[in-house]
Amino acid sequence: MRKSELISMLLYDVALEHSAIVQYLYHIFLIGNPEITEEIEKIARQEMRHMKWFAQKVVQLGGQVELKRIEEEIKVGGPDWASMLESDVNAEQLAIETYTKQLEEVKDDSVKKLLERVINDESQHKHEFSELLEQVKSMELSEEEKKEADRKTVELLNKLLQEEYRIILDYLHNFFHSKDCEYKDIMLDLAIESMVHMGELGEKIGDMGATPDLSMPELKRTKDVESHILYEESSKEEYIRRAKEVSDPKIRNLLEWIEKQEDYHKQRLLEFLRRMRKLSVGDLRKRD
Ligand SMILES: [Fe+2]
Ligand SMILES: [Fe+2]
Ligand SMILES: [Fe+2]
Repeated sequence: MRKSELISMLLYDVALEHSAIVQYLYHIFLIGNPEITEEIEKIARQEMRHMKWFAQKVVQLGGQVELKRIEEEIKVGGPDWASMLESDVNAEQLAIETYTKQLEEVKDDSVKKLLERVINDESQHKHEFSELLEQVKSMELSEEEKKEADRKTVELLNKLLQEEYRIILDYLHNFFHSKDCEYKDIMLDLAIESMVHMGELGEKIGDMGATPDLSMPELKRTKDVESHILYEESSKEEYIRRAKEVSDPKIRNLLEWIEKQEDYHKQRLLEFLRRMRKLSVGDLRKRD
């Protein structure tokens, strides 16, 4: 296998993990039983680590990370919980088959080790999803009852969720490719916090009996700190505005909480920018 082929293989794996994460997120938001969603959340977090490890291998091999996904492999299923969990069992099976086949073809020792590790995780996941499926099948149907959704609020929350998703992908991309250790660290931090925002918004939408919009956002890639600062500023203002539009106090609370975090994101980036500027001025002086 040539290096370029190995890189495309790993990029496929990044996309497969990304697809699984999105599928599981749908189910976390749509299944209204915390006992079950906690289990799915644990699995989704591990898929994020898989995605990160595959992406880091791409960078190590000199490739460019693309945070794509495979739309036809995102199977939401439903409306009943059992059919959702069935598609999760199948997703794990697909991952096991895909990585096992790759393992036979790959020569690179470190990639082999990674694939073995991930196959082991996916087998465990498949087992866990099968158990959840059995659990759900024996549950009372009444738990699945749907509530009437307030369309305007759902729309508003979905718009915010899409924005968070977009910035997560943007920050992750910067995390994988930035050469500056401190900036890398900030990018990962802000990506993780945006994932928390996305999770909370999705959960509220699911609680309202509606479906969160996890379609692939349009990527606008930003590389410089300045545009990230502007983004955080506008995001903060958006949350302030939206918090005034909603009547449900719990949702308003959530939006105000996120707004304060966006403000802190902006502060972190500003501090970084100031330090960078000081450094470059200092460097110039040294040269004189
Ligand atoms: Fe995975
Ligand atoms: Fe898995
Ligand atoms: Fe932010």
